[in-house]
Amino acid sequence: MALLIGSRKKRTAVFISGKGSNLKSLIKFSKKKKSPISICLIVSNNYKAKGLIYANIFKIKKKIFSFKNKIFVEKKLISELKKNKIELICLAGFMEILSNHFIKNFSGKILNIHPSLLPKYKGLNTHDRVLKKKEKYSGCTVHYVNSRLDAGRIILQKKVKISENETSKSLSRKILKEEHKLYPNAILKIFNL
Ligand code: GAR
Repeated sequence: MALLIGSRKKRTAVFISGKGSNLKSLIKFSKKKKSPISICLIVSNNYKAKGLIYANIFKIKKKIFSFKNKIFVEKKLISELKKNKIELICLAGFMEILSNHFIKNFSGKILNIHPSLLPKYKGLNTHDRVLKKKEKYSGCTVHYVNSRLDAGRIILQKKVKISENETSKSLSRKILKEEHKLYPNAILKIFNL
């Protein structure tokens, strides 16, 4: 990852599919003086994503792409990102798998947050699987995105203890709270701040 040169904030796009609570926390973070990023674009594969509301609230450009024809859509998406001079992409609850071609176009510049202690529990339904295995701990991970699912270099992780009567919902709430701190901290870390 190229380091921050001078004090200009990196033009960042956040990709979402749902609620967008990580997006909200990243927007709040981006407005801080110490933050190395400025969020210039919100991308969603789902026009019903609740998180799109933050584009209106914070007056950030948004673009919605249906991923039905992935090759065609990714071409349009890449040119939109280039047009907006995007330098960093943060996946935040984005539920599409990006192609190798897309990832190569932004090599080393795509981050993801995942609600488990990677490399454990890659993929979907992490909380259910963690509880089924009777794990004592779970957590969240921010990592670089490479061509293998949830397997890029880990930047930061936060561990949380699983309570006795934990449910998937309570665990998700507990982990999300940590995600909101972990993503900004991971961004500070990659810029050596
Ligand atoms: C978060 O828990 C994030 O880690 C997870 O989706 C949730 C999105 O919440 N991402 C994945 O599972 C990616 N595989 P949000 O829309 O409120 O930020």
